[in-house]
Order: sequence, then structure tokens, then C-alpha cells
Amino acid sequence: MPIAATLLAPRGAARLLLVLAPAALLLLGGCGSSAKTTIGSADTPQVFKSNCVSCHGTDLQGRMGASTNLTKVGKRMTKDQIEKQIKQGGGGMPAFNGRLSDAQIDELASWLSAKK
Ligand code: HEC
Repeated sequence: MPIAATLLAPRGAARLLLVLAPAALLLLGGCGSSAKTTIGSADTPQVFKSNCVSCHGTDLQGRMGASTNLTKVGKRMTKDQIEKQIKQGGGGMPAFNGRLSDAQIDELASWLSAKK
């Protein structure tokens, strides 16, 4: 790191970028969280369609046996359990941690936990 810093030191623009990058990320983060409220529940079925129907079916009926039927998943799993299953996968299901944002996973879990 000291070497990189010395290399970059004469290049004012590069240093400025280094300073601005975290600020830009913070700004983007801010946008993301405000977008979350507008995307919200209306978008969650869409996220499900793009990522989950191949195994869980268009009507949550499941395409790989009873364990993939999610029509009443909120009865047997809490929101936290559902969130964990989406993030970590397991039992034949891929992990979505990193593939979907935390906000999307959170919303999917809320949406599914209401299916009773
Ligand atoms: C490649 C197929 C596949 C995909 C894609 C997939 N799942 Fe799954 N999912 C499974 C399987 C198989 C199980 C059963 C796991 C078990 O029996 O432990 C499961 C289980 C679950 C469970 C727990 C159900 C229960 O009663 O134990 C939830 C909740 C769930 N999936 C949600 C999702 C969501 C949300 C997505 C999309 C983001 C998704 N899954 C994508 C295959 C998949």
C-alpha cells in the first residue's frame, strides 16, 4: 500500500478518484435504498420469475417435488428461515447470496413468508 500510494501521489487525478470512489459508492447506496421502496413488492414477483420459477413453478406449486412447493411456505418457515434458505441455498437449491441484493432477498423472504 505505501508503494501504491507513492506511485499515485504525483497523479492528482488518480488520488482524487481514490477519494471520490467511496463517496460515489455511498451515494449509490443511498439511491439503492430509496429505489427499494418504489420497486418494493410489485417487483418481487418479477425477481421470483427471473430466478426461481425454473424449480418452484410459476404459481409456487413447485416443479421438483413437495419440498419445492412454496404455496404455503409461510406456514412452515419464518421470514428469517426463508431468507437463510435463499442466501445459502441447500438441498439442491443454489445460494443466491451475491446474485441478488440483500434488499431483493429481504423482500422475497417477506413476500414468501406471507404465503400461508
Ligand atoms: C435449481 C433449482 C432451484 C432454484 C433456482 C431455486 N430453488 Fe428454492 N429450493 C430448491 C429445492 C430443491 C428446495 C428444497 C430444499 C430442501 O429440501 O432442503 C428449495 C427450497 C426452497 C425454500 C424452502 C422450502 C421449504 O419448505 O423447505 C425456499 C423458501 C426457496 N427454495 C425459495 C427460493 C427462491 C426465493 C428462489 C429464487 C431466488 C429459489 N428458491 C430458487 C430448488 C431451487
